[in-house]
Order: sequence, then C-alpha cells, then structure tokens
Amino acid sequence: MMDDVLRNIRENLDGKGILACSGGTDSSVLAVASAMVAGDNVKTIFIDTGLLRIGERERVQKLFDDFHINGQIVDASDQFIANLRGVTDPERKRKVIGETFIRIFEDLATGSDAKYLLQGTIAPDWIESGGKNRDAIKSHHNVGGLPEKMNLKLIEPLRDLYKDEVRQLSSEMGLDQYLQPFPGPGLAVRIIGEVTRDRLDRLRRATRIVEEIVEGKYAPEDRPWQYFAVYVPVKTTGVHGDKRSYGDTIAIRAVNSLDAMTATFSRIDWEIIEEMSVRISNEIEGINRVVYDVTHKPPGTIEWE
Ligand code: XMP
Repeated sequence: MMDDVLRNIRENLDGKGILACSGGTDSSVLAVASAMVAGDNVKTIFIDTGLLRIGERERVQKLFDDFHINGQIVDASDQFIANLRGVTDPERKRKVIGETFIRIFEDLATGSDAKYLLQGTIAPDWIESGGKNRDAIKSHHNVGGLPEKMNLKLIEPLRDLYKDEVRQLSSEMGLDQYLQPFPGPGLAVRIIGEVTRDRLDRLRRATRIVEEIVEGKYAPEDRPWQYFAVYVPVKTTGVHGDKRSYGDTIAIRAVNSLDAMTATFSRIDWEIIEEMSVRISNEIEGINRVVYDVTHKPPGTIEWE
C-alpha cells in the first residue's frame, strides 16, 4: 500500500506541488509521503480556521518538524468566523467554509510556483459527496472546487483507500494511528445553528473534557472510533448552587466504526458518561444540560451537521 502511494506521487508529480494539511490522518499521511518522495518540492500548508480543537495547531507544527516537511501555518480564524456570521444552514455553512478555504489557499498557491495540488481525498469522501451516482449526503469540503479554479493538476494518491487502510499507513509511518477523524469544516459542523466565538469556546472546552476522560480511561486500541461533544443551542432550566440557571446543551457523541460509512453508538460505561456530564456542567459556564447520543449511522450521520 505504502509503495503504491509513493509510486503514485512519483509518477504524477513533475515539478512543484502544494498540499493543504488539516492535521488529520489522511492529509498528514499525504504530507509525510509527499515529503518522502519530493522533499521541499511539495509545500504543505495548514490553515488555522479557528474551528479547531485545543492543541491541534501545535500538533501540526510538531508533525512538520518531526518529518522535515516544508510546512507553513496560516492563521485565518478571524476571516472564517466573520464569514460564518449569521449562517445557520448546515450545507450553507459547509459551502462558506469551503469557499473561504479555497480563497485563502488560492492566494497562497498563486504566490507559489506550484503546478500540482495534492489532496488527501479517500474513498468515502467522494462516495458520500455524490460520486458513483449516489445522492450527495453532505458536501465534504475536501472534495471539488480547488483544482478547477486554480489551474493546478490534481493528484489524489489516497483516493481508493478506506479509513482503516489509511490508518495502517499512518502507523507504518510512525504517526499516531489512533488519531480520531475530524471533519474538514471542524467544530462548525458540531455547533447547531450559528457559529459564534462563545459557542466555539464552550464547545472546545467540552471536547477537551470528553477527550481527556476517554483517553484517561481506555487504552488507545479500546477507545471508540470517534468521541466528541456537540453544541446544541437549546436552552433548558437548571439549578446551579441555589440559583436558577437557563443554559445551552452539550451532546456527547461516541461511535464505533470501521470505515465511517456505517457506525454504532458506543456503549460507554455510565460512570464515564457521568464524569463527563459533571465536569462539563460544572466547568463550562452557560451549559447546564448534557445528553448522550444513542443514534446509529444510518439513520444518523456521525457528525450532527
Ligand atoms: P458523517 O457525519 O458523514 O461523517 O457520518 C463520516 C466521517 O467523515 C467525517 N466528516 C468529514 N471529514 N470533511 C472531512 O474531511 C468533511 O466535511 C466531513 N464531514 C464529516 C466525520 O467526522 C466522520 O468521521
């Protein structure tokens, strides 16, 4: 598998390339493979959308350093958050994020002399985005748009691989094979309704709590496939101390899956869910209710939007 990916890059890349790395398994594997084949001829760009989890940017900087990747980190969080103001429809949100991403990336690519765009698209991305004559379920933002606009030739070395295969590659490379998948549009698709700085901040802290507890209790191989928090702006009544509170809701989602095409909700121990619930409602002001999502995929998708 590794040989196929390296050969694909070697055979298709004839000059300079550019690559957008989200810090997830797919694009990290691609960034490392590209650096192995082409060294500094491939520039890897990480755009901080402001929709990321705690520690994400630092992790990517370390990846760049450890694997001698010709990398650049760009902070574009203000732009993303400004463009998302007032946007509530999930598909519109994905489009806005995708377009903002393209515009920023386009500027960076224009300033470079790249002829090729390397993309970490894997099979479920294009299948679920309407490939193979299926209805588009969600418009995954790492599919489409970029190459046509930029006059770059597209190279997708991971296109035929499923998630478990990419994970295997990542472990062969010495990357963290237990990294959770994280959606391109980031925390924006885990906030129902408008994305605001306050909601992002609360969701980020809730996500950290869920991660800390799961990672503290389970060995890497026993953890759910994905475990995260969702911001549900539904206000309910509560009591904090002896005062009435009226705050939003956090949903905890944890699923098991092989390839993200189907998933079952994880049967996490009640004690663990209790610990999450207590910490989230105690530590995060504005949240007074925590619920656990018991929906399989299908009928639900893994992400709420
Ligand atoms: P869904 O929510 O469609 O998610 O069941 C399936 C898997 O894909 C991730 N996901 C995304 N990944 N760009 C991505 O790169 C996206 O727009 C996107 N949306 C969902 C999700 O986290 C799950 O692992």
